[in-house]
Amino acid sequence: DKPLRDLAARQDLRIGTAVDMEALGSDRAYRSRTAREFNSVTAENVMKWEVVEPERGVHDWAEADELVRFAQRNGQAVRGHTLVWHSQLPAWLTSGVADGSIDAAELRRILRDHVTTQVKHFKGEIYEWDVVNEVFNEDGTLRESIWLQKLGPSYIADAFRWAHAADPKAKLFFNDYNVEGVNAKSTAYYDLAVRLRQQGVPVHGFGIQGHLDIGYGFPQDVQANLERFAALGMRTAFTEVDVRMTLPVDDAKLARQADDYRRLLAACLNVRRCTSFTVWGFTDKYSWVPEWFSGQGAANLLDEEYAAKPAYTAVRHEL
Ligand code: XIL
Repeated sequence: DKPLRDLAARQDLRIGTAVDMEALGSDRAYRSRTAREFNSVTAENVMKWEVVEPERGVHDWAEADELVRFAQRNGQAVRGHTLVWHSQLPAWLTSGVADGSIDAAELRRILRDHVTTQVKHFKGEIYEWDVVNEVFNEDGTLRESIWLQKLGPSYIADAFRWAHAADPKAKLFFNDYNVEGVNAKSTAYYDLAVRLRQQGVPVHGFGIQGHLDIGYGFPQDVQANLERFAALGMRTAFTEVDVRMTLPVDDAKLARQADDYRRLLAACLNVRRCTSFTVWGFTDKYSWVPEWFSGQGAANLLDEEYAAKPAYTAVRHEL
């Protein structure tokens, strides 16, 4: 059987996975399957700020660089994740803001240096960057974060400008969850994209994480959502797809899951500017879901023994 990446390449689509660097280092089956099935990879954690700058001014690119080398050896493109987020920030930064030793002006310089240094470090090696991650609430208001609180909403445009200056060829994305369909949150991104692009801010893409739960029902108007961004001249991408369920697994749940994967992929294939479809891990052996959603799991394409689930077959057939 042809691997997923061969099927995707014929459609001009990149098919990707998040990579868990611990599993990549210790599990040969994980390593070979990552190389075989995918032509794009995203660091699940090792490009996040808390990992790349654990102490102020001290950068540690070791694991991120290792992933980039793995990708290059295997003819894979790399999605960059993520530059500006409210989560997984280094302790020196959050505590400095909390105790007032880092004021707003300094915080802005710190953010500028972070974006610039990180994007420059990977210049030419990353095709799409998640520049700002999860900045809106469900109702379309901006999320409370140190960034919004100390710098105001202009931090978003600044981050895109800094990233673009550091690597003019990389495509720069928003990224969020619960924005698969047309809703208040995805519309907030749409409206912001229109405004920023009118102002000449280099915003090129809308990343839809795609963390679904079979209990919620498939989101409304996914394709229409992709199309409205395409009509602005923007790319779209599914960046973190997984479809969780309440355990235990049964055949009906696996069928529902397969259908959800298939429908997200179909929407992407139907819209020309949808450039990549990335799953947030590909085996139930390694997944963030059981840790983060109590009682839930089995969210990936392969089971814990790397056997294909109905979702894997559905994705193959759709490609
Ligand atoms: C998750 C990772 O999968 C976990 O290993 C980590 O503990 C927390 O972050 N949205 C994102 C991703 O943008 O970075 C998150 O990844 C999942 C939700």
